[in-house]
Amino acid sequence: MTKPICLTGIKPTGMPHLGNYLGAIKPAIEMANSNQYDCFYFIADYHSLTTIHQPKLMSQYVYEVAATWLSMGLDPEKVTIYRQSDLPQIMEMNWILSCFTAKGHMNRAHAYKALSQANIDAGRDSDQGVNMGIYGYPVLMAADILFLRTNLVPVGADQLQHIEIAREIVSSFNAVYGEVLVAPEAMVQSETLIPGLDGRKMSKSYQNTIPLFLPEKKLQKLINKIKTDSLPPEAPKDPADSLIFDLYKFFSTKQQQDELAAWFKRGIGWGEAKAELFKVINAGLEQPRARYEELMANPKEIDRILEMGAEKVRPKAQEFLTKVKKATGIIC
Ligand code: TRP
Repeated sequence: MTKPICLTGIKPTGMPHLGNYLGAIKPAIEMANSNQYDCFYFIADYHSLTTIHQPKLMSQYVYEVAATWLSMGLDPEKVTIYRQSDLPQIMEMNWILSCFTAKGHMNRAHAYKALSQANIDAGRDSDQGVNMGIYGYPVLMAADILFLRTNLVPVGADQLQHIEIAREIVSSFNAVYGEVLVAPEAMVQSETLIPGLDGRKMSKSYQNTIPLFLPEKKLQKLINKIKTDSLPPEAPKDPADSLIFDLYKFFSTKQQQDELAAWFKRGIGWGEAKAELFKVINAGLEQPRARYEELMANPKEIDRILEMGAEKVRPKAQEFLTKVKKATGIIC
């Protein structure tokens, strides 16, 4: 029996943080390990090129994100992991699909709209700083998805509109040429809110993140910055109303949680609570951190793994692209 094809893109924009890990990386790795899907996870470097124009940063981000997924348990035997830019077929698909994409859909895409609205609000020309890559971002994303006849796309809720656009492109194309493209379904990852240092959602834009792979000392320092109230150490505290406890839950067993909850109720000093939190997070990250550092010191190994993935996908990509080109009469 063939398994559903599950594909997702990872945009390299900096070292992932705990929120990224718990919200996206961990569930995607669990999906791959369930053996129920044929999984393809790729590094969307051309999507990053819409905004990242510093060559050193670009390559650093690609390695960081690949090393993160690999060290957190992605098994390249179970998941085909590759670089988007290693498959020129995606770029050909991108053009073909763009000829079936209503410009109006691009005008309405959230990311582009937000940028032009910000320009308008600031009294600037609405297109200032908007390149064609940003504008056409959803088409490239459709190409990523459609060239593999993807069935399922695990994404965050912010990406739903993009999947919708990909489905629209499928309808426009298939209306002309018949059932050539496969319409993908989004699979929205449950929105467990992972709080950041200040209690708001952990997000790079709030600068409240805990990056995954900090040296121990730095990790400890950041954890010490978590916002607390000014209750004295001996005062009983409510675990349900504590950011430290919220984060603790993600890294501990039920028994550890019960024990810490009891300590909260007896009275725990915030310093002590933070030390407990550090212990569990650090224990969970110790091994992956060592593997991460090993990979980052040896980027050739990362290249090798990504190239291995690209080699697996390339023949499929070429075969399907030929089919699409034949459908259009570009190849006869
Ligand atoms: N746009 C996605 C993001 O910002 C990344 C991405 C690129 C993607 N291509 C994709 C996700 C294809 C799913 C499928 O996170």
